[in-house]
Amino acid sequence: MNKHTPNAAQPQDCRPRIADSGPRACYANASHPIAVKLNKLSLATPLLTASGTSGTSDEINELRNAAGIAGALGAFVTKGVTLEPRSGNRELRVVETRTGLLNSIGLQNSGAAVFVKDELPRLLTYNLPIIVNISAGSVEEFGALSEFLMEHDRSEVISGIEINVSCPNICAGGVAFGVDPRTVEKAVRAVCKPLRRDILTLTKLTPNVTDITEPAKGAIAGGTDALSMINTLRGMAINVHTGRYYLGNKSGGLSGPAIKPVGVNMVHECYRSIPECRRGKIPIVGIGGISTWEDVLEYIMAGATAVGIGTAWFVNIDVFAEIKKGLETYCKANSTTISEKVGCIHDTENDIRS
Ligand SMILES: Cc1cc2nc3c(=O)[nH]c(=O)nc-3n(C[C@H](O)[C@H](O)[C@H](O)COP(=O)(O)O)c2cc1C
Repeated sequence: MNKHTPNAAQPQDCRPRIADSGPRACYANASHPIAVKLNKLSLATPLLTASGTSGTSDEINELRNAAGIAGALGAFVTKGVTLEPRSGNRELRVVETRTGLLNSIGLQNSGAAVFVKDELPRLLTYNLPIIVNISAGSVEEFGALSEFLMEHDRSEVISGIEINVSCPNICAGGVAFGVDPRTVEKAVRAVCKPLRRDILTLTKLTPNVTDITEPAKGAIAGGTDALSMINTLRGMAINVHTGRYYLGNKSGGLSGPAIKPVGVNMVHECYRSIPECRRGKIPIVGIGGISTWEDVLEYIMAGATAVGIGTAWFVNIDVFAEIKKGLETYCKANSTTISEKVGCIHDTENDIRS
């Protein structure tokens, strides 16, 4: 059943469909060893772009065919969208450190109106599930943004909404939503309310907390379908030769290889101690520092069902295609599937002793 009714301003829906796949289009062949199910969304591969690292629809466009990305991705996650346009933080916004990338982009984007007018029609041609990453300054704004996207997504391009709770909550003096489980719950509830039932909600958690399972539980109480973790770790770099901060915003978020053990541990924590995650009811997308297929497996074994890849893609445009190939080879050599490996580390003696 194809319930899409493209309007005149948008190109015809050309995505592959499976006739009896239910209310939402199915993009994956479930029998393929690296296909996974992320709650209500079936993905051809467990590989997602990490929000903010491949633009909205523009920046990835030229590269995606050249680098075989289109065939390697399970879903495309957009850069963060806000209700109003945002000009972003002062420059410099990005600096390389020895172990990773420090950024303080400040959620620069053209706002939701431009997004639905210019970006959604382009994203429709991707032949991939599209997950829109959203940010807001208050619970009410999260709700209004979700409602706006639903009102304007007439061709039903959007398969998922990723709620970025790392952004500052103006009503709480600029502290990130993600540090307070009650506020996370309210933000998630506000986003979920106007959404079409077939849309997957992911709550993207900040690692800048003492116990990641607390905001994770808040998100589940608010009605999220899945969790994604981690966003960047707060960091700073100082140029000792000039005596100045590198970033215009002084501090920023660290991404890349240095944060992978933090991300793996947080996925492990949630899978281990939250029954909904352990039972597969609330799947986890593991993000942070992934650059090889072994990194992906590490997240999967810790409890992730799918993964997001960001900084590595700045360094190696073939990273998605290479990782897909590595995972396929691994599954074939070991007569296994990615789904079988989800959380498998928790069954080992190793884990029971700890
Ligand atoms: C330049 C840049 C921009 C980002 N923008 C966003 C964003 O808009 N929304 C969001 O939720 N995360 C954003 N992130 C965080 C990434 O999605 C990801 O969680 C983080 O970079 C860790 O993954 P990585 O080590 O693979 O890059 C951004 C990261 C970078 C490096």
